[in-house]
Parts: sequence; C-alpha cells; structure tokens
Amino acid sequence: MENIAELSVAVEPLSPDITIMDVGDMFLERTYDRFLSLPVVRDGQPVGTISRYNVQKILMGRYGRELQGAKSVERFMNAAPLMVAVDRPVEEASRHITRNIAFPITEDFIITDGGDYHGVGFVINLLRGLEDRLVVKNQSLEQSFTKLKASQSQLVQSEKMASLGQMVAGVAHEINTPLGYVQNNLEMAHAAYDQLARLNEEYEQLMTMLQSPEVEEIAMQMQFAEVEEMRADFANAFSRDEMQGLFSDTLYGLRQISEIVSNLKNFSRLDQAVVSNIDLNQCVESTLVIANNLIKNKVEVIRDFGVLPKVSCAPSQINQVLLNLVSNAVHAIEGRGRIMISTVSDGQYVHIIVKDNGKGIAAEHLSKIFDPFFTTKPVGEGTGLGLSITFKIIRDHQGYIRVKSRVGKGTAFCVSLPIVGQF
Ligand SMILES: Nc1ncnc2c1ncn2[C@@H]1O[C@H](COP(=O)(O)OP(=O)(O)OP(=O)(O)O)[C@@H](O)[C@H]1O
Ligand SMILES: [Mg+2]
Repeated sequence: MENIAELSVAVEPLSPDITIMDVGDMFLERTYDRFLSLPVVRDGQPVGTISRYNVQKILMGRYGRELQGAKSVERFMNAAPLMVAVDRPVEEASRHITRNIAFPITEDFIITDGGDYHGVGFVINLLRGLEDRLVVKNQSLEQSFTKLKASQSQLVQSEKMASLGQMVAGVAHEINTPLGYVQNNLEMAHAAYDQLARLNEEYEQLMTMLQSPEVEEIAMQMQFAEVEEMRADFANAFSRDEMQGLFSDTLYGLRQISEIVSNLKNFSRLDQAVVSNIDLNQCVESTLVIANNLIKNKVEVIRDFGVLPKVSCAPSQINQVLLNLVSNAVHAIEGRGRIMISTVSDGQYVHIIVKDNGKGIAAEHLSKIFDPFFTTKPVGEGTGLGLSITFKIIRDHQGYIRVKSRVGKGTAFCVSLPIVGQF
C-alpha cells in the first residue's frame, strides 16, 4: 500500500441542493450502511460532507421532518470537510488526518484528485490499512532481528575461532620447545642403549670364553681388552650424572607438554557448559600457560592471588575473558613491561584485576572500548570484538567489569563475578 488512493471508495456524491430528508432515506439504504458521512460536491468540487449522525439528529428531533426535512443539505453539512490529495503517502496522510479531523467518530474524509472530488476515505479503512502495514513492518523487523542475531553469533564464533587460531599457534610453539629436547634426549638415550647392548654382547662372549677350556690365552686377553675399551668409551660418553640429568630433563619436558595440553582442554571446549567449583586462580594460571608465548621475553607477570571460594561459571568463557584481558595488556606494552594479576574475594564477588603498565587508554576512547568493532589496532591485527565479547560473557554471568586507565601509565581491568551466581 503506497498512497491513500487505495483507501478511497468511489461514491456518487450528493448535490448541495438535495433535501435533508432524501439524504436520510439514502442513509437508510443498505449500500450506505458503512458510511459515517456522504460527500457533497458542486461542479466536481467537494464543498462539504453530511454525516449520518447529523441527519439522524435533525430528522429524529421533535417535528424535525416537518420543519427541516425539505431544506437543502447545504445548510447542515460540514462545509469544511477534511480533504486529502489522492497521491499522498498513507503514513503522511494518516498524520494529517489524525491531526485535523474534527469528528473522527462521525465523519469520514474526502479524497481529492487535483482539487476535484475523487472519493471518500473511511477512517476505519485507514486504521485497518495502518494496522496491516504495522503487521508487515513487524514481520520484517522480526526477520531482520533474527538475521542480525544469527550474524552476531556467527561473528562471535568467528572471533572465537580467530583467537583460538592465534592461541593454537602460540601453544604449538610452546609445545615445540620441550618436544625438541625430549626428542634429542631420546636419541641420545637410544645411542647409549645401542652402545650398552653391544657392550653386553661382548661381555657375554667373554663369559662364554671363560667357561670353555680350549680357548687360547691370547684370544681371551684380546676379548678382555675389547670389553674394557667399550666400557671405558661408554663411561666417557655417558657419565651417570649426565644420564640422570638427561632423563630428568626429559621427564620435565614431558610434564610441561602435558600441563599445556591439560590447560588447553579447558580452552578448547567450545561449549558453554557451566561448572560449579571453579577455582578462578587456576583459570588465571591456565590462561598464563596458554598465553606464555605472547608474554615471555617481553612481560614480567606478577601474581597476587587471594584465597578464593569456588565459583560456578562457564570456565571456557572465563578463560576467554582472561586471555583477552591479558593479550590486550601485552599489546598495550611497548618494549618490556609488567602485568600484575590480583585476585580477591569480598564474600559476595570474586574480583580479578589485570593491571598493566602499558600505554593506557585515551579519555575519549574509554567509553567506546566495549563497543563491538572499536579497535585502535591496525587493520588485520584486531577485530575490536574482544572486549565486547568479554562484556557480554561477564554480563551473562551476572558480573561486572570496570576499567581505569591513565595515558602513559597503564590500565587496570577489574572483573567481578558473583560467588553464588544464578548463571
Ligand atoms: N590494557 C589495555 N591498554 C590499552 N588499551 C587497551 C587495553 N585493553 C583494551 N584497549 C583498547 O581497547 C580497544 C578494544 O579492545 P578489544 O579487545 O575489544 O579489541 P582489540 O584488542 O583491538 O581487538 P581483538 O581483541 O579483536 O584482537 C583496543 O584496540 C585498545 O585500543
Ligand atoms: Mg583484544
């Protein structure tokens, strides 16, 4: 429905000279049942409307028919009817009508075309038309809302995948170092075992010789010398202390790898499962292990952990929050710097404070940092979604996040999570 034309009903208009009694009869005819008023037109120009209500009032009054019935409609009509041009858009026309119609319950309005009479517009049709439009608009609004929600969650998911990707690269690097020396050590242990196995074979041969009487003295001595030489070589190549160091280094490396892997398990859970009994200090530790590649050689991390009650939360989400805060802090530090992570409980909330001595946030940016897509990082480096997702996760946990920053001094984010959440 574009313009008011669709609400127009072509009605044969009345002449101004028609008597009021005749109009009353016309209203009684079924065809005019729906009409609140009829148009009065002279020479094609609308000059008024006469309402059913008025006509009835006149004719049903005492001696109304006798006294007024033969008079022309012109004397009783509304000589200033509301007129609307046929090409006016519906919404604009409806604003005009609702503002200007004097008797919306007893009168309709006239639709004109270039000033000439075109038809009658019903107020009730207008209402229906507007209602239909509203329904259509609502539907399309609902559709766009659903689409928006879908693309938002897709965006959140892809941000998650992107940060997961970055993290995986860092973690792969972390695993690679211990893996490298575990492999070296194992190769050395393999070589030592080969040598030991060969020494064992020579030793067995020597024992066989010793037990058989017909072996010549000279052969025996040569075998002795061989065994002794191999033993000395082995002792030279692999001292006992060295071998012990090698094995303990290997075990250390393997422990490191398994620690990273078990921390990674918390992170890689893409579900939103809520778990009770979460130790948030442990979450911070896991985050630091996972972020180690980003942190090491650049940032000194100071831990100031309080004794915390267990919290019920979605650990994979909280880890995501912590990782984002820690990586933002690392990114804010130019050159070398310091990050302090403190945790404390006040009996109602657990507060986790991530404080850095990086470049700080400009005052005019502070109100924007939680907006999706706000980033001061170069294109391709930051999506600007980190803190908006952080904000959403914390709000979903019924917690809150605060920030304090001074340019050139540093920034502190404080995440507060309720201990007994309804999450
Ligand atoms: N610790 C901080 N110090 C200084 N500025 C910060 C700090 N944390 C956030 N900001 C500012 O807030 C902006 C938005 O952070 P947010 O984590 O939402 O996105 P991002 O880090 O830019 O991108 P992404 O997290 O997607 O990689 C950052 O670009 C930065 O300007
Ligand atoms: Mg970020």
